[in-house]
Amino acid sequence: MTEILNRTDRDIGRAAVLLSQGDLVAFGTETVYGLGADARNAKAVAAIFDAKGRPHFNPLICHYETEEAAFADVDASDTARRLADMFWPGPLTMVLPRKITCPVALLAGAGLETLAVRVPAHPVATRLLRALGRPIAAPSANRSGGISPTSAAHVLAGLEGRIAAVIDSGTCRVGLESTVIDLTGPVPFLLRPGGVNLESLEAAIGPVHRGITPGQAEAARTLRSPGMLVSHYAPKLPLRINAISVAPDEALLAFGPPLASAKLLFQLSAERNMNEAAANLFEGLHWLDAQAPAHGLSRIAVMPIPETGLGLAINDRLERAAAPRD
Ligand code: TXA
Ligand code: MG
Repeated sequence: MTEILNRTDRDIGRAAVLLSQGDLVAFGTETVYGLGADARNAKAVAAIFDAKGRPHFNPLICHYETEEAAFADVDASDTARRLADMFWPGPLTMVLPRKITCPVALLAGAGLETLAVRVPAHPVATRLLRALGRPIAAPSANRSGGISPTSAAHVLAGLEGRIAAVIDSGTCRVGLESTVIDLTGPVPFLLRPGGVNLESLEAAIGPVHRGITPGQAEAARTLRSPGMLVSHYAPKLPLRINAISVAPDEALLAFGPPLASAKLLFQLSAERNMNEAAANLFEGLHWLDAQAPAHGLSRIAVMPIPETGLGLAINDRLERAAAPRD
């Protein structure tokens, strides 16, 4: 049963308690309803992907109460600060490099070294963020492939029984997702048009590039400095999936009772729980990458992971990491 909460202080407090316990709460923003989880709790973030039924891990937007809180987690350029001053709180999401100290779960950013941040302009969102005292990771509160919800009824139509609560926040003023701009390279890129239009952005910071067609995307890529390329995190060490034994030069990413003879292992989930495994995935890859060389190991073997629940998304990620690199 999904609780339907109202805009009272008591109910907002209740929603914050649920979030702090690792539960999912849908809440209104000025754009669309978000499906929120405590951004620092990897298991709660994993539950978002499970509830949405996404076959792979998309990076999520992290919502903050204030600009200061957002820029405590990412490296803000002058351009980012200028945009924040002009458009926050509001329907603009900025993709920026994560700080090394950023406490947001790696899974929230799908393992990327960047993080999408925004300060929403809606009293319910603001009060909830203040009550929780932490950032909230939230995609739109619809099942994967569905339409973004702009009322509590829309949220319930897709997610009833799959989330702990929805805060009835009224209808969304903008009714369209936030504009997403990538500020990690030397030139700003529009990743998704949305609530703040391109003209307003360009009036504030000059030309904004758009990589729409494959040709444009290619041109865009060569424009950007290679060191700044936004690429999904892949372990430095070669990865072997569906391993049923461990070679002498391999570290082990285990799922359930570990294979014998592993000299170094990271356990995704001893109980073979899919959400726990998803929550630990990027952490595990980073950790093995960092630790293996000191143990004389040069590859990572990954135990088979069933294709149930988040197993699909986990395997999608691992298959890509195991594919030949360019
Ligand atoms: O208005 C909105 O943005 C709503 C409300 C709830 O804030 N949220 C929303 O989230 O639309 P979602 O997950 O449906 O869309 C997030 C978009 C996706 O297109 C995703 O690929 C992109 O932002 N994104 C998130 N993090 C990113 C990153 N680190 N790099 C590039 N793109 C990113
Ligand atoms: Mg969406």
